[in-house]
Amino acid sequence: MLIAIDGPAASGKGTLARRLARHFNVPHLDTGLLYRATAAGLIDKGCRLDDVEKAVGVARGLALVDFDEARLRGREMGEAASVVAAIPAVREALIDAQRRFAGRPEGAVLDGRDIGTVICPQARVKIFVTAAPETRAQRRALELAGRGEKVDFADVLEDIRKRDARDSGRSTAPLRAAEDAAMLDTTLLDVEGAFAAALKIVQERAAVAS
Ligand code: CDP
Repeated sequence: MLIAIDGPAASGKGTLARRLARHFNVPHLDTGLLYRATAAGLIDKGCRLDDVEKAVGVARGLALVDFDEARLRGREMGEAASVVAAIPAVREALIDAQRRFAGRPEGAVLDGRDIGTVICPQARVKIFVTAAPETRAQRRALELAGRGEKVDFADVLEDIRKRDARDSGRSTAPLRAAEDAAMLDTTLLDVEGAFAAALKIVQERAAVAS
């Protein structure tokens, strides 16, 4: 069972991906953490986020485990991640590791921006998760506050709009739904509702495939 989940910032794709992975008992890779960790590595070395050579070096050296999530999931790192993620050579450096993860014999769930379009276009189950920007900003503000970060709703909404524009507008692997992705709008759904809707999509896709 290979499931590819994509969508914009704070659409609920990470929570959904974790939930599906647990349900099907397969490993989960949050690919956003790779870009966040690349940005963090550059910052730690005192390098600029547009230093391509250094960024590629950091990206190549990443392990796919033991991420310092408390640090990486902060607001600043989301913004920095979307800057390094727009560098084609950085994306290239991270492709093989993601594809190896996706190729595990037991299957996997991967979530990100280009999973269905670039990393595993062969996945039969592709879900593109969306939600209204205001709803996403509300969820992200709650999440950040829960992590102890002081946040202002208007700033978070502004971040989300900026990130949407950067992620959708870049030339390499822009954020977009694969042609055969099922669309899942979670604006009016809670975690359980989104999971139930996703499970239905998985079952329908699996039925078509068999
Ligand atoms: O959790 P959230 O959706 O806010 O962010 P994330 O999934 O951790 O991704 C952070 C940033 O990394 C995004 O804004 C994208 O620019 C980039 N990213 C990407 O380009 N491709 C991926 N497969 C995953 C993330």
